[in-house]
Amino acid sequence: MHKLTIEDIDLRGKRCLIRVDFNVPFDQYGNITDDTRIKATLPSINYAIDEGAKVILASHLGRPNGRVAPNMSLNLILKRLQRLLDKKVKMAEDCIGPEVKELVEEMENGDVLLLENLRFHKEETENDDSFARELAGLADIYINDAFGTAHRAHASTAGIAKYVPVAAAGFLLKKEIDYFNRSVSDPMRPFVAILGGSKASGKIGVIKNLEEKVDKVILGGGLACTFLKALGNDVGASFVEDTMLDEVPEIMKKAKEKGVKFYLPVDFVVAERCDARAQSKVVPAQEIPSDWVALDIGPATTTLFSEVLHDAKTIIWNGPMGVFELDAFSRGTFAMVHAVSNSYALTIVGGGDTDVAVHRAGESDKISYISTGGGAFIQLLEGKKMPGVEALTDKKE
Ligand code: 3PG
Repeated sequence: MHKLTIEDIDLRGKRCLIRVDFNVPFDQYGNITDDTRIKATLPSINYAIDEGAKVILASHLGRPNGRVAPNMSLNLILKRLQRLLDKKVKMAEDCIGPEVKELVEEMENGDVLLLENLRFHKEETENDDSFARELAGLADIYINDAFGTAHRAHASTAGIAKYVPVAAAGFLLKKEIDYFNRSVSDPMRPFVAILGGSKASGKIGVIKNLEEKVDKVILGGGLACTFLKALGNDVGASFVEDTMLDEVPEIMKKAKEKGVKFYLPVDFVVAERCDARAQSKVVPAQEIPSDWVALDIGPATTTLFSEVLHDAKTIIWNGPMGVFELDAFSRGTFAMVHAVSNSYALTIVGGGDTDVAVHRAGESDKISYISTGGGAFIQLLEGKKMPGVEALTDKKE
């Protein structure tokens, strides 16, 4: 990474604003169901505390669209954060304004202050200049450790960097970018990409970028039906994005030219409708009944895909193989989790709930790297630049 990182800066006594991504999921009772993103930022926060900085944490939670929404208050994160840090954290009632300034002025070295949800101000997502300047006014040093939001050009991820003396990456942001770049730019081969999820439209850019780099592509999930239909197969009533059909022949042609092998499902778990109680059965890909929908890959496909992974040395995986939230359609995704985690490859998983599937299958400790990014990870897969990284201060060679 050619950007300054948190370790390159003297933090002692400085007001250090760390942009984190505490956008975590909650259940219907308001309990945090997965605190991975909070835990992932602890190395940066603890480092800044240990170095004697005044640590100001800024994050968004959900999409409140510029309105104050109590169910998206960062207050909901406060207790867990304090428990994980084993330290008292003060909570500000806003993220800008005179009261926040006052709280920052009162801070001692090693104190931690959590700002209220940045997106309670619409200026955050609009990347408004004066909002960015006001945030910057709270800090001597800006650290971006919000990998999950680094693909957004928002005031707290991009705009702010213009107005602070120094803008650097936190440990998490650096780790995510370094891991990804290392594995994609100089991969151990065979290099296999596994792509799933329901929509082909969200993955066309990823496939186009990755087919320049990988040796094999495995396609599962709903998007495989769009590919199968484009290649002349009848996929019954399965979800297909007709606007994407024209993209497929070009992708397949290029794959052939480059010698990239493509693998599509050979059988499916199909059902009368997407419902846990609907009639379901396993059929070959050629025999999907006309009014049934494909909701998971079948057992023959699982065997095929697992065989494809046998000699892999690098695997990148984004997107489940089926509707794994429903037990009846989860086997294909979980079988792939086991195949990936049992492989002798460097394995990187991220985006589109793939991390959730890995955690649920109890295999997270057998994956080399699980990204904390959703959309951010996909943007990396597409080979696009990240505004939250680009805005940081360049490292002098
Ligand atoms: C995420 O959950 O992917 C990040 O926190 C970004 O959230 P957003 O998609 O609402 O910008």
